[in-house]
Amino acid sequence: MVNFTSSIIEKASKSALLIKDNIPYIAFDAYYEDMTNSNIGWWTNSFYSGILWYLYKETNNEEFASWAKNIERKLDVVLDGVKDVDHDAGFMWILTSVCSYKLTNDLKSKKRALRAADLLFGRFNKKGQYIQAWNGDWAKGWAIIDTMMNLSLLYWASKETIDNKYKEVAIKCADTVLKHFIDENGSVRHIVMFDEKGNKKGVKGGQGYNETSSWGRGTAWALYGLTITYRETKEERFLNAANKVASFIKKHLPSEGVPYADYLAPKEEKRKLDSSAGAISACGFYLLYQLTNDNEYLNMGNKIIEGLKKTCLAPSDYQPLLLHGNVAYHTDKIEERDCSLIYGDFFFIEALMLLNKKDTFF
Ligand code: GLY
Repeated sequence: MVNFTSSIIEKASKSALLIKDNIPYIAFDAYYEDMTNSNIGWWTNSFYSGILWYLYKETNNEEFASWAKNIERKLDVVLDGVKDVDHDAGFMWILTSVCSYKLTNDLKSKKRALRAADLLFGRFNKKGQYIQAWNGDWAKGWAIIDTMMNLSLLYWASKETIDNKYKEVAIKCADTVLKHFIDENGSVRHIVMFDEKGNKKGVKGGQGYNETSSWGRGTAWALYGLTITYRETKEERFLNAANKVASFIKKHLPSEGVPYADYLAPKEEKRKLDSSAGAISACGFYLLYQLTNDNEYLNMGNKIIEGLKKTCLAPSDYQPLLLHGNVAYHTDKIEERDCSLIYGDFFFIEALMLLNKKDTFF
């Protein structure tokens, strides 16, 4: 695996020399599209910066750091606009500003990251004990499983400021996930809706097949996010919940080791895979292994990485690392189906870093 990790770092470095400080999101073939001028507020706009920071750590090439910092500055229009910032503030500023601060001690980056943490903290709904998802009336009262990953920004902010308030909110959100998002069988809801009093009023299928299915990437967000919350709190209830989701994935993972876009979609539709769900799940399994020493988790992580290697590796002359991602189970946009996704590539690298016991960003 060490040689495989080196070959992935080499390939990602080769791509980065072409992509430079553009902001890749999705690729239908060999080339990623750039989001700089088309949608600078999009939630995925930090993942390539995260890749650049890993490449900087692994190669010491200063160009990678300087491109990552350019991307961080490009996102200032979002941070300064405030209104465009949403529950994904963690994704956007962990992989830009927190990385830049941690790796280069840049105090401007620290300021940005704390501002993003304050904005995320400010979205907490006390009555329902959740972080409001998205912006706009249509989403009022909605919480989503993806937010579990964004809690890392709150854990970081509490350590940085020695103010427990961020962590306390993160734990409350994670408890809401235990209560309302994880079913007894370990399957995971994408969207839970709350009324004005904070009572649960329903669920939505969101990017999964339907409201009772288990969206592959959402299941992965739950596995990795709950495991991170266990790492940060050492509270057994989060480990138990992560274990429940892990067992669900183990039971439903196809034999080739790459998750379905939705684990509970009807059998005849099931062949749709999602490599990004695989990469994120592998991170969750490897972190569970680090925290528990249970070999079953290591084996699951390895099974998924082997599956991704066998089924999803992009050709060597492609910019992306992985093929066969799906943005959502139901989408009319052809470019969002069976495509390469920058977050799939990022978490593939993060999984390999976890496997090699190196420091990671979430
Ligand atoms: N909305 C986040 C995701 O697609 O996973």
